[in-house]
Amino acid sequence: MIDEYGRNIDYIRISVTDRCDLRCVYCMPEEGVIPTAHSEILTYDEIVRLAEILAGLGFKKIKLTGGEPMCRLGIEKLIASLKNVGGIKQVTITTNGVTLAKKYEALRESGVDGINISLDTTDRALYAKITRRDMLDNVLKGLEVALAGKDMIPLKINCVPMSREQKLTDVALLAKENDIAVRFIEMMPIGYGSSFDYISRSEVIAKMEEAFGVLTPYEGKALGNGPAEYFTAKGFKGKLGFISAVSHKFCGNCNRIRLTSAGYLKTCLQYETGCDLKSLLRGAGDDNAIADAIISAVGKKPAGHHFGEEAAGGDEKKTMSQIGG
Ligand code: 5AD
Ligand code: SF4
Repeated sequence: MIDEYGRNIDYIRISVTDRCDLRCVYCMPEEGVIPTAHSEILTYDEIVRLAEILAGLGFKKIKLTGGEPMCRLGIEKLIASLKNVGGIKQVTITTNGVTLAKKYEALRESGVDGINISLDTTDRALYAKITRRDMLDNVLKGLEVALAGKDMIPLKINCVPMSREQKLTDVALLAKENDIAVRFIEMMPIGYGSSFDYISRSEVIAKMEEAFGVLTPYEGKALGNGPAEYFTAKGFKGKLGFISAVSHKFCGNCNRIRLTSAGYLKTCLQYETGCDLKSLLRGAGDDNAIADAIISAVGKKPAGHHFGEEAAGGDEKKTMSQIGG
């Protein structure tokens, strides 16, 4: 679908749950958020029906997010069903990696096209401080299993720089030793993220160049759907990427919309604007009525975020675990 600003919107991020087995400080409060009742969460059948309608509108790529998507039972079945939707070319998942070692084989069998693992530090104590759970070893085990997998599924590590205690170069080393992408994502002032300072891309690049020498822009085959800019460094098997929504606004090239686990279609990360698809899915309307609602919502997709500027009204009040990042 082409929106009002000429952007080709063909990618949807679908949150399948707002539950999570971690409590990252920039995402959730210590006690967690009150999880949405199961009856209010879209069923897999409802998600697949929506994917079929979206494919009919030209959508080609789906990312499953959370909360933690692996906290939802049978996620691999959903992936396999989505992979069967005509027109959908790519189904990927983003995970905190805590249960990846156990789930990897089922994911592989589902046909998933890519796995993004969130990992902000390789230091166990700091990991436990950031995520409020002592789970680093599980994530590293998951990564090890995924790296050893037959016909390795493309892997990306997502790291949000947030504290000067983080040894970001240690996380980057994972891309030196393995053919994976390590991406540094600027903290966005959304939900609990607003209470943290973001560490800018230029500061991270300076650290990387100090440790690994000059970074060269990567100009090969596209590595993903999104706004990451990739670099190579001498002796690296993989790539370093930067997703810099705050310092390098990329809304002009935005290609995506989001669906919350409760079935609300969000057309921009920072605004509440969108439409409630759950009531349509559960109402009397047919697929055409749902398609019309999606067309109308995408037609009103905001031009972009206003991070770092005055609040403009209509700002999102949900937490990242409800939106899916
Ligand atoms: N800014 C940037 N990234 C965030 N994430 C969660 N909250 C924020 C935020 N405020 C990231 C997580 C995970 C992904 C799903 O979103 O670290 O990698
Ligand atoms: Fe869970 Fe991801 Fe939020 Fe961390 S950022 S608490 S892993 S949903």
